[in-house]
Amino acid sequence: MNLLPDVDRILLGPGPSLTAPRVMRAMAAPTVSHLDPLMIRLLDDVRARLLRTFRAPEGSFALAVSGTGTSGMETAVANLVKDGTRALVVVSGYFGDRLAQMCERYGATVKRLDVEWGKACDPDALRQALKAAPADIVAMVHAETSTGVVNPVREMAAIAREQGALTIVDAVTSFGGVPLDVGAWGIDACYSCTQKCLGGPSGLAPVVFSPNALAKRVKCRSFYFDLSLLEDYWLRRKYHHTMSSTLVYAIDEALAIVEEEGLDARWARHERNHRALVASLAELGLSLLPAEQDRLWTLNTVRVPSGIDEAAVRVHLLDEFNIEIGAGLGPLAGKIWRVGLMGASSSPRLIVLLRGALESALARQNFQRHRVPA
Ligand SMILES: Cc1ncc(COP(=O)(O)O)c(C=O)c1O
Repeated sequence: MNLLPDVDRILLGPGPSLTAPRVMRAMAAPTVSHLDPLMIRLLDDVRARLLRTFRAPEGSFALAVSGTGTSGMETAVANLVKDGTRALVVVSGYFGDRLAQMCERYGATVKRLDVEWGKACDPDALRQALKAAPADIVAMVHAETSTGVVNPVREMAAIAREQGALTIVDAVTSFGGVPLDVGAWGIDACYSCTQKCLGGPSGLAPVVFSPNALAKRVKCRSFYFDLSLLEDYWLRRKYHHTMSSTLVYAIDEALAIVEEEGLDARWARHERNHRALVASLAELGLSLLPAEQDRLWTLNTVRVPSGIDEAAVRVHLLDEFNIEIGAGLGPLAGKIWRVGLMGASSSPRLIVLLRGALESALARQNFQRHRVPA
């Protein structure tokens, strides 16, 4: 029995997004070993591309960790947090909570700055929290995938810096899709994934450490995510683990596509398509959860109208149109759909398709269409 999918799912959920065709082709290149000279050249290329794409300052170290976005989170935390580290974690959704849990597991004394789900963090609240309880590390999620909200990381990182704290930033749903500038914003450690705005398959986590973070690293409890051992492999060609050449081809090609498009043009594309989606949804009578200024271009949280069976809509989209969108998490379960427009999935063609499919799904439930403000 062949269990391989024989349909091309249109991935418009919270991730993975569609894999760019060029990346799919790159993955068909022959396997080489993790220490093959051809692999080493690729690793150097990936490192250089990541430094440019993160806009990291001189002296930073960037790499792609084997694993998904969570492995990037763990790499950042495991190398900067030790027993007794005072960590202030901004929790404005599901992934902020995961970050707080991760810091706790590595021994930090965690203070949470809880923000209502669906709202962005107010930088003043962060300033007050840090004044009340100074921290060694401030950790935050840039693009909160559970709520569709973008946090003002530029301002938040500046405040953390003023107070002498290191910053860890989760850029899993922002890297390659919305403005992010590790150097100019003074971020110390930042991580992402390959399966969202980069348009690759899941499996690697881009991570960058600033010179300040490199100098303040702690003795790492994890073997797999130990930055010094990973440096041995990436810089000194010493075996650490058998890195997948196929995934390295994928990230190198995905980053090449980002650089060819240009970061500014790519961010503008994500913004344009987000706005087109919002306008299109408004014509159907659907509105977004966050206030306009807090909306994330790469992940749109759409309110489920009252009386509509949200799961039935998702099933209809998948069964009839091959389109995947996501459900709400935690307190937003049943209340929102999550529509991702990331990387190769951020395209006008797919917005038109989704609109038609949603119209069909809502008509099934006799939803009375009426225009709402965008
Ligand atoms: C903001 C954020 N952080 C972390 C993660 C965890 O990434 P992964 O599922 O690739 O491990 C996700 C996944 O969606 C995410 O959206």
